[in-house]
Amino acid sequence: MTHIRVVIGAGALALALVATAVLVGRGGAAARPPRRVARADHFPPAPATRSPATRAGIELGRRLFFDPRLSANDRISCATCHEPARAFSDGVARSARGISGATLARNAPGLANLAWVERLFWDGGAKNLESMVLGPIQHPDEMGETVARMIEQLAADPVMREAFARAFPGEGVTPSGVMRALAQYLRSLVSADSRYDRHVRGEAGGELADAELRGLAVVRAKCARCHATELFTDRAFHDIGLDPPSALPDEDPRRGRARVTFRAADERAFRTPSLRNLSYTAPYMHDGRFATLAEVLAHYRRGGVAGVALTDDEADDVIAFLRALDDPDFVARHAR
Ligand code: HEC
Ligand code: HEC
Repeated sequence: MTHIRVVIGAGALALALVATAVLVGRGGAAARPPRRVARADHFPPAPATRSPATRAGIELGRRLFFDPRLSANDRISCATCHEPARAFSDGVARSARGISGATLARNAPGLANLAWVERLFWDGGAKNLESMVLGPIQHPDEMGETVARMIEQLAADPVMREAFARAFPGEGVTPSGVMRALAQYLRSLVSADSRYDRHVRGEAGGELADAELRGLAVVRAKCARCHATELFTDRAFHDIGLDPPSALPDEDPRRGRARVTFRAADERAFRTPSLRNLSYTAPYMHDGRFATLAEVLAHYRRGGVAGVALTDDEADDVIAFLRALDDPDFVARHAR
């Protein structure tokens, strides 16, 4: 199977973002977004996609993301578990907000900079956003909807028919359109405007305090092996010693990457999360076990598999720096 992989410049993504801002601005009900748009030129190049974004596609995806008709009881939308005000996470360790009320196996991560992620989910079990989005829609513990009923409802709504026609002329209201539009919207969620980003770009508003600069140096020296590049993730999978080793059943979600690859070396390995927007996305880790950043650092400082030695002062500086990676403009821009 051939896999199309052409590298596109981050500039295209910044453009997509301008498009979102413009459209949200016209939306009327939505608050006027800040004029400023994030430039992600300092990020690594993003892999290419099969469905390049258009304004109309992103706008349709945004509508679908907040539309409860994508669930069986017409009450749950993607935003139920991915709240814009929490940088698209949900504030609980493991959500029980899905249709069955069952507690999910993993923490709902914040959604940002997904255009750079090649293997989605904590265990990398999904290959692209297009195919991934039908997962939550159909999952019996998430939205529990059938594709047929979803399409029937959307196609019965003239506003939606028009939005699909603008995004995908001549195609009608189709599952493929839902998948491509949601993927385009998700890729448009670029967070690259924290105080740290402005610091890197040498812009006004990018001043970092001494403690934050010291924290940055510690992160670069001791964390960047995994929290690498300006994305603050190597997009790879590591066991950081959260659980003592013991044999887990084949399907146990705590096996992490091994559940996908069946390799012993991937037991309990999870995808390195970004360090951006952490003030909005607590609790932390694949199962939300740590409520605070202090608890996260206490874990690393205990030593073990991915132990990191830090003095008390260094730990304080690291936390100060991590706050400088919050992007309030990103949160405000996508609020609804
Ligand atoms: C009931 C809660 C819930 C709903 C509703 C929900 N999600 Fe999620 N989402 C999660 C959880 C939990 C995960 C983490 C799953 C994992 O990694 O095993 C997740 C993961 C994701 C990811 C992967 C992010 C990454 O960094 O790998 C994307 C993208 C995503 N969801 C998009 C959506 C979209 C689009 C919808 C609506 C069609 C949606 N979600 C609906 C809970 C939810
Ligand atoms: C060996 C690779 C590695 C090193 C070194 C490392 N991390 Fe991590 N980090 C990870 C992985 C993998 C996860 C997710 C683990 C999980 O959920 O099971 C993670 C999770 C986190 C989280 C939680 C983020 C979230 O969204 O839930 C924070 C915060 C964090 N690391 C900060 C740091 C800091 C600060 C350092 C340096 C002191 C550091 N890490 C060093 C790989 C690493």
